[in-house]
Amino acid sequence: MTMTEDDEPAVELEARLEEQDSFEPPESFVEQANVADEGIYEAFAENWPDCWERAADLLEWDAPYGEVLDDSNPPFFEWFVDGKLNASANCLDRHVENGAKNRAAIKWEGEPGETRTYTYGDLLTEVESFAAALGELGVEEDDVVTLYLPMIPELPIAMLACARIGAPHSVVFAGFSADALATRMNSADSEYLVTCDGYYRRGEALNHKEKADKGLRGVDHEVETVVVDRLGDELNHFLGASAHDYDELVDEHAGASVEPVSRDAEDMLFLMYTSGTTGQPKGVKHTTGGYLAYAAWTSHAVLDVKPEDTYWCAADIGWITGHSYIVYGPLALGTTTVMYEGTPDYPERDRLWELVETNDVDIFYTAPTAIRAFMKWGEEYPQRHDLSSLRLLGTVGEPINPRAWKWYYKHIGGEECPIVDTWWQTETGGMMITTLPGINTMKPGSAGPPLPGIDATVVDVEGEEIVAGEAGYLTVQRPWPGMLRTLYRNDERFISEYWAEYSDTNSDDPDDWVYFPEDGAKLDGDGYITILGRVDDVINVSGHRLGTMEIESAIVGTEGVAEAAVVGGDHEVKGEAVYAYAILEDGQEPTDGMRERIVAGVEDAIGPIARPEEVIFTPELPKTRSGKIMRRLLEDIASGNELGDTSTLRNPDVVDDIVDRVGGD
Ligand code: PRX
Repeated sequence: MTMTEDDEPAVELEARLEEQDSFEPPESFVEQANVADEGIYEAFAENWPDCWERAADLLEWDAPYGEVLDDSNPPFFEWFVDGKLNASANCLDRHVENGAKNRAAIKWEGEPGETRTYTYGDLLTEVESFAAALGELGVEEDDVVTLYLPMIPELPIAMLACARIGAPHSVVFAGFSADALATRMNSADSEYLVTCDGYYRRGEALNHKEKADKGLRGVDHEVETVVVDRLGDELNHFLGASAHDYDELVDEHAGASVEPVSRDAEDMLFLMYTSGTTGQPKGVKHTTGGYLAYAAWTSHAVLDVKPEDTYWCAADIGWITGHSYIVYGPLALGTTTVMYEGTPDYPERDRLWELVETNDVDIFYTAPTAIRAFMKWGEEYPQRHDLSSLRLLGTVGEPINPRAWKWYYKHIGGEECPIVDTWWQTETGGMMITTLPGINTMKPGSAGPPLPGIDATVVDVEGEEIVAGEAGYLTVQRPWPGMLRTLYRNDERFISEYWAEYSDTNSDDPDDWVYFPEDGAKLDGDGYITILGRVDDVINVSGHRLGTMEIESAIVGTEGVAEAAVVGGDHEVKGEAVYAYAILEDGQEPTDGMRERIVAGVEDAIGPIARPEEVIFTPELPKTRSGKIMRRLLEDIASGNELGDTSTLRNPDVVDDIVDRVGGD
């Protein structure tokens, strides 16, 4: 029998963990925590909104702001009014000036194992060279530059170069398809693209440029392109007439000095497209002052980041998590941020733990889907490595079940690291609901209380606050600095998507405006919030948000398909998986070939992440008497749940038929 350090038999330890439903932060953590005074909740409440100066104080301002919040025109809230600053100067120059020139800013590891370290000094030099190059290509302040890059250092470099010259970036996840790239570039009228020849995935050199080129053919205007040569001789590529080689540009501008443009606090720092309920992705607009202050503040208070730390958020920069917690938050605080190009199971399933050990990682932040995969692979992989450098663990993106939480706590954190389960969204810019690791008791499965200064409230359909023990809808009743300001060029949709549900939209009283994130939630007697998941037609696959409408329209776009309904069904590792129900046109056969065409159609329109787990051919979809598709029923069928009463359907007979086909035909 294996014994633990304090001589407790491992089986008993397992049983104890199984039963335990709350955990206190370890004393050793509390003693050194950035935030350990529980008075912070009250201090923020009493001094709202001026409490947010604490976040703004983490930044260096070129010109001081006046009012902390201008709420005179809700829901178009403005933060740190008239303040001026530059995000790249905050992430680079000030650290170089303050003696951190030789501290590692980015430690990168490629999938084949090569490493690159950029000190703050190196990073500033390269950002300035690339900023100069972008300027010469014609990029001006407020031009949107699209970055279609995988996890290579040139991605954060390009982001910071854009920020330096005041050009908002729009990062498109490298796993998205050519069509998805074109849609986003057209929507933002983006005339500049930075991409690369390819990258490594499980030992294979993927051709990325081919996808970028195909995407560009769908863009309705001229585009200047910069191509990073990631793969060298492994994959040859040709630059067209309007394409430039990244290395050549940087060499040409070596040693350039580019003054950071002083941006208004409310000027756009970036645009990030995310999925919504309609087929059209939403361009979420984030600003320079409020967003950066919020990313820095939450990195400081929740992730406990300190300049001397080596910090690793194992997300992809193509999503908001990577923007806020690989790039902007950690670099604003002057810490060392780790980036890894590849997948966690290559060449073996201990790759991440090897990286933690070799880099002495202090803080590790990932998604529940990854934790579930680690759990499935077994504890032998983390056990191969010394993970004792870890001080804090975090999760984000989807609900984490208590079993996965405890596995993470025990096998990765060695029962010595607090875990922060952080609820937030692309739209919120940063974390909103989570325990503070130096203060709060942790309850596996529950994200925790709202952060200080965040008015997250669970309400019923009428918008009335629910009582503890009940479930309802999550709302945020007061603005916060990291909030999205609008949907790019679409104020109307901004209001209808996020505010219409619970606000009096005719009112100019800010108290009448309530933000609705479209999540269900439960509240307990200690004020802890457990997130139940989306209440709209968005599904969460491996922590990635996908709109069912986008997938449905891709399926209906396949020749021979008449109608489609897409729902999320339970999945052991991914959390949710895409289940597609398709009705074929008369005369079409439900063949494997048809199924493959449907899957390929989805991959072309969105990318492999949206790939249906199953395509179920059915002659009809279950509909209510008023003709609405019964999605809930389709979800239950996909998840293998008990089906409720189906007798009120217009076509109840179809249900048995579909159940027979799932997993069977
Ligand atoms: O449903 C919630 C879920 O992810 C959604 C936001 O997705 P996205 O904008 O892609 O951002 C993901 C990374 C911030 C939310 O509406 N979600 C996020 N974090 C959690 C979560 N669900 C439960 N627990 C969380 N910690």
